[in-house]
Amino acid sequence: MRISNKIPPIRMLMKVLLHPRALKTKLLDWDLRGPIGLAAGMDKKAENVAAWHNMGFGFIEVGGFTAHPQEGNPKPRMFRSSTHKALINRMGFNNPGSEKGAETLAKVPAKARQGMPVFANLGRSKSTSNEDAPEDYSTSLALLWPVVEGFVVNVSSPNTPGLRDLQKGDALKSLLEACISMEEKCGGGKPVFVKIAPDLSNEALDHIIDVSRQCGCAGIVATNTTLERPQAINAKSETFVKQEGGLSGKPLNQRSTEVIHYIYAKTKGKWPIIGVGGISSTEDAWQKIINGASVVQIYSALVFKGPSVLKEIQKGLGNKLKQHGISSMSEAVGLAHRGNENEPE
Ligand SMILES: Cc1cc2nc3c(=O)[nH]c(=O)nc-3n(C[C@H](O)[C@H](O)[C@H](O)COP(=O)(O)O)c2cc1C
Repeated sequence: MRISNKIPPIRMLMKVLLHPRALKTKLLDWDLRGPIGLAAGMDKKAENVAAWHNMGFGFIEVGGFTAHPQEGNPKPRMFRSSTHKALINRMGFNNPGSEKGAETLAKVPAKARQGMPVFANLGRSKSTSNEDAPEDYSTSLALLWPVVEGFVVNVSSPNTPGLRDLQKGDALKSLLEACISMEEKCGGGKPVFVKIAPDLSNEALDHIIDVSRQCGCAGIVATNTTLERPQAINAKSETFVKQEGGLSGKPLNQRSTEVIHYIYAKTKGKWPIIGVGGISSTEDAWQKIINGASVVQIYSALVFKGPSVLKEIQKGLGNKLKQHGISSMSEAVGLAHRGNENEPE
């Protein structure tokens, strides 16, 4: 046992340092210990919940889970560029299936997830057609319902052929209706979010916002990886940018913040946004929040900077609040839309 666990004042002090009071924030009815969450795809099997809790995440998303277990695409399927501070992945929902995922989560001790909502990210099995997607997703939802606090319906992974078409037309409505009616059948009260791609026109975004809100989605996760590529700057980066798959990390940052800005403006700040895409510094997280994200998530920054990036951003956000003279994270949400009255001189 660590010495800090034996001495309550030291434990208390560490808690306060890790989670300064001002960083506590709200997402729906939850009082989160901090605004930074773990993005989907890092813990595909939900095997490391206790570790994320110890690291200090405010909330986590596990999976993506599909109704059928699947191996995903052949390796290599993940590529890294330190020049671009970006990853390209074509994992293809390698996961043990939602039944096994639920079994794993059921074994996590309550203390190891206390105060840290766990969302299940849901995808479509490769062997299932888009027509049958509502059943695939809602089967996963029902299996995972007892062991998570909420769901993210992922219609934006570029690595399952046709999946992104589920963002369009009536397909989105049928899928979300099926998921939300299954959630109610299971007992209700567990929010369903929808996760979108960054590569969408404003018209496509309007459609998703309208349909998702009409169907009763609690909010939106913006965004998944992009099919866009940065300009290659040497032979190595040329090879990198030519890889098939979704790109995450630094080059995604600006676009995902733009999407967040658009959604917040369109919904007048009344629909919670979980902001994700290219956050690797305090400034990146702050921009997402002031442009409208209630909370944010990270993935690629953990790969490039290691776990210390979480504390770095938490500490930096605490300083940002002081600089701007505001007392809580919630007050910072959407600040960029409210003019410059709270900007420091
Ligand atoms: C290897 C890898 C696997 C991913 N798997 C999923 C997934 O299963 N479901 C999902 O919604 N997003 C998945 N993502 C996307 C991330 O959750 C996140 O939206 C994206 O990486 C952008 O954030 P970042 O720039 O902080 O990495 C994955 C990303 C990576 C790099």
